[in-house]
Amino acid sequence: MKLHRRHFIKNITLGSLVGLIGTHVHARTLTPSEMEGPYYPITPQKDQDADLTKVVGKKGKAKGIAIEIYGQVFDNQGVPLEDTTIDLWQANSYGKYHHPHDNSDAPIDENFQAWAIIQTKAGGHFRFKTVFPGAYPLNASQQRTPHIHLKVSKRGYHSLLTQMYFPDHPLNQKDGLFRSKTRQEQALMTAKTTSKANQYRYDIVLAKV
Ligand SMILES: [Fe+2]
Repeated sequence: MKLHRRHFIKNITLGSLVGLIGTHVHARTLTPSEMEGPYYPITPQKDQDADLTKVVGKKGKAKGIAIEIYGQVFDNQGVPLEDTTIDLWQANSYGKYHHPHDNSDAPIDENFQAWAIIQTKAGGHFRFKTVFPGAYPLNASQQRTPHIHLKVSKRGYHSLLTQMYFPDHPLNQKDGLFRSKTRQEQALMTAKTTSKANQYRYDIVLAKV
């Protein structure tokens, strides 16, 4: 009996140990990276919380369709990563960035927070509220399909710069950056609908240094 137990303990791996206490640990494919684009926020902003539909100190609400995005950050072994920083920014519902170099005619929405820096909690969980980003013109013939930019970082892991897309959006297949990815990469970069309206699930996988 004693021998058996020792044998069991000797052969147990960290992965199976975590599995035994109830977390699903399995290998995951890394989230593909994407370019930063020209509009990473450069204007300092006090309100960077997980609700982008409101700006602290302002009474109004952001224009557009309010959506909620939640998910988990994992490493490629499937271990959830707590205390991961997610720095995210996006165009407002009109397709305008709150950035001095965005000189499109689309309106600024003063009630849209546009930029957030959040941390994952226990289990690598995160959640934020925002509005569905507008598409915007890239040049005379191309539009960027709606997307959210993310920089995801944690000590001991390679920082990930990527863009999250929305499932079945008609502009996805016309977007040069999206189309340049393989089907598998596209799937990994696209959020999933949930049973709730205007809610999406999006998981992120980082590589260990
Ligand atoms: Fe963009």
